[in-house]
Amino acid sequence: MSTVTRNKGNPGAEDAAWSREAQEILTGLTATPKFIPSRFFYDDVGSKLFERITKLPEYYPSRTEKGILKRYAGEITDGFGDAAIIELGSGDCSKISILLRALSEGERRSLVYVSVDVSRGALDESGRLLRKRFGDITVRGIQADFTVDMGMVEKYDKKVLCLFGSTIGNLDPSDARDFIARTGCVMAKGDRFLLGLDMVKERAVLERAYNDALGVTAQFNRNILNVVNRVIGSDFRPELFEHLAFFNARHNRIEMHLKASRAMHVNTPLLTQGLDLEEGETIHTENSRKFLRDHILEFAAAGGFAIRRIHSDSMGWFCLVDYVKQ
Ligand code: AVJ
Repeated sequence: MSTVTRNKGNPGAEDAAWSREAQEILTGLTATPKFIPSRFFYDDVGSKLFERITKLPEYYPSRTEKGILKRYAGEITDGFGDAAIIELGSGDCSKISILLRALSEGERRSLVYVSVDVSRGALDESGRLLRKRFGDITVRGIQADFTVDMGMVEKYDKKVLCLFGSTIGNLDPSDARDFIARTGCVMAKGDRFLLGLDMVKERAVLERAYNDALGVTAQFNRNILNVVNRVIGSDFRPELFEHLAFFNARHNRIEMHLKASRAMHVNTPLLTQGLDLEEGETIHTENSRKFLRDHILEFAAAGGFAIRRIHSDSMGWFCLVDYVKQ
């Protein structure tokens, strides 16, 4: 069985959502320095580009986390029977597949897999793929921005929430803590939270992961301007922007920016005067925080969790934290 729910109730909500998105983008583009919230990366094209990133040799987080999931699948999936396995930002569902594969057919039939993603395309495709891979598994899709809306998972009573890929690294420290606290609030005692965290490591390794030789990350970065053009009706030319990605050691984060290769004027019906960019001006598009061991404890406190286990790779590059609600 499969259902996809657009997370809105009343007619007109779609328009309201559009103008809220437009408003958010305009706020960023009229700020100094300019920024675009990184959730706008993930239209259908952006989601596809991100999937390509995860397969690049330089982008170690995905394969390192998958290695951890494979190696400790038995231990991680202990208790998955009868539960709702809820994956936030499910993408191509390759990670959950590793865990589902480690289960017996009976256990697999007893659970429900719920994927939550902003990309409708990703939801449809992952549902199709999982049903093909695992036969009669129960799959549900919820199209939503999970950073805003966690209420929709509360109705499931035995839960395993999964947030893989260090996705939480996109939030700044206080938003991340708030998000974990809100997550803790929709969980009952004994529910679990599997959180993937990319750890602080040597700068060269970090920077290579965001500056791949094929330029897929650069394409992914520029694609956000195509999304912006659709939302605010603007005429940004992505090819006029250079991809910048570097480690900011003060904030323990990779930053991505788009740098204007020349001065330009950008039109949008939503701003009479349009937008002007100087040559070399940058638009900040992403922060990808890297974590320290202390953050694992900080999140436990914020959510009201005990730490069941911390799984890691031999280099300590990535951690998969298995929390349980107290
Ligand atoms: C999906 C947010 C975890 O921060 O590494 C990959 C996104 N950006 N390459 C990350 C991303 C550039 C990714 N997250």
